[in-house]
Amino acid sequence: MARVFVARRLPGRALEALQAEGHEVVLWGEELPPPAEVLARELTQADAAILLLTDRVDRAVLARCPRLRVIANVAVGYDNIDVEAASAMGIWVTNTPGVLHETVADFTFALLLAAARNVVSSERFARAGSWRTWSPTAFLGPDVHGATLGIVGLGEIGAAVARRARGFAMRVLYASRTRKPEREAELGLEWRQLDELLPEADFVSVHVPLTGETYRLLDAERLGRMKRGAILVNTARGAVVDHDALVEALRGGQLGGAALDVTDPEPLPPDHPLWSFDNVVITPHIASASERTRARMAEMAAENVLAVLAGREPPNPVSPPDGTAARRA
Ligand code: NAP
Ligand code: GLV
Repeated sequence: MARVFVARRLPGRALEALQAEGHEVVLWGEELPPPAEVLARELTQADAAILLLTDRVDRAVLARCPRLRVIANVAVGYDNIDVEAASAMGIWVTNTPGVLHETVADFTFALLLAAARNVVSSERFARAGSWRTWSPTAFLGPDVHGATLGIVGLGEIGAAVARRARGFAMRVLYASRTRKPEREAELGLEWRQLDELLPEADFVSVHVPLTGETYRLLDAERLGRMKRGAILVNTARGAVVDHDALVEALRGGQLGGAALDVTDPEPLPPDHPLWSFDNVVITPHIASASERTRARMAEMAAENVLAVLAGREPPNPVSPPDGTAARRA
């Protein structure tokens, strides 16, 4: 029987699946994440862990976890875990690809539409009792149909966003680490270098993972390259965008708006200047939050844990551990 630390209550049947195999589940059942010292202590005693993107695990923590064989992140992103260190220590890290991209793309489009067409600010206005008449000049925004969308990072989510954009008759440009001719043909996309894409796009939607290379990829200079009045949508990771620069770009009217499901930090403090803009929509990192998708993500994490505990390769490894894995299997 293995000891599996689970860092939050999960939807679906993930915990039952672990218990059905006879494993001991140690559940952190609070609403807020386990404090760093609790997480570190639990991991020292665990054979496996199911963690969320809010649970940060660095090399120093991993070095004190002799029993740990797998960390299954309930997310496709894994920037919360030092994967290189885990790999070197023979610990599998897994994620949840292939099940959330359509759900996240739906939400990305919801944000894009909300920011363009003032959905949130006008609803707030009407709810406050300020709606006195039909006005020909109130809440005007840019059309989405026929506009140019720039996708930054054409992976699973970026491609799913591009498919939706076709339904809105948008012209779609993309910049990504690797050029993808087959996607260009399939989705009618145009490839650009990032610095060429930014001045051409009416909407820029960010879909890169957070890495050393993408940290503040959209800094003051790049935001300054965007078309004046363009709208930035970020459902990737907050730290891909320099938030001080974003505030300045909004203040000066360089950007016409922003829609952010992710911020830096999370949660965004209540006194952060981004909250003060009517043309900014901020949601609390919920792009994958459909009932079915979140349940599937949790179940996948359990499947990854069960595979490693049974001595098999997990179905969704982020990167295989080096040779020391054999010692732990
Ligand atoms: P993915 O399929 O791995 O796609 C990521 C894309 O980014 C790939 O095409 C990759 O290029 C590209 N890329 C990586 N580094 C780059 C760089 N330095 N410059 C330009 N492009 C780069 O991942 P995904 O499933 O689409 O997810 C993307 C990210 O969205 C996740 O990592 C996560 O952080 C975030 N996310 C957020 C939510 C949410 O709830 N808001 C939900 C899910 C995911 P290659 O093709 O060359 O590898
Ligand atoms: C959510 O942000 C994810 O990476 O799945």
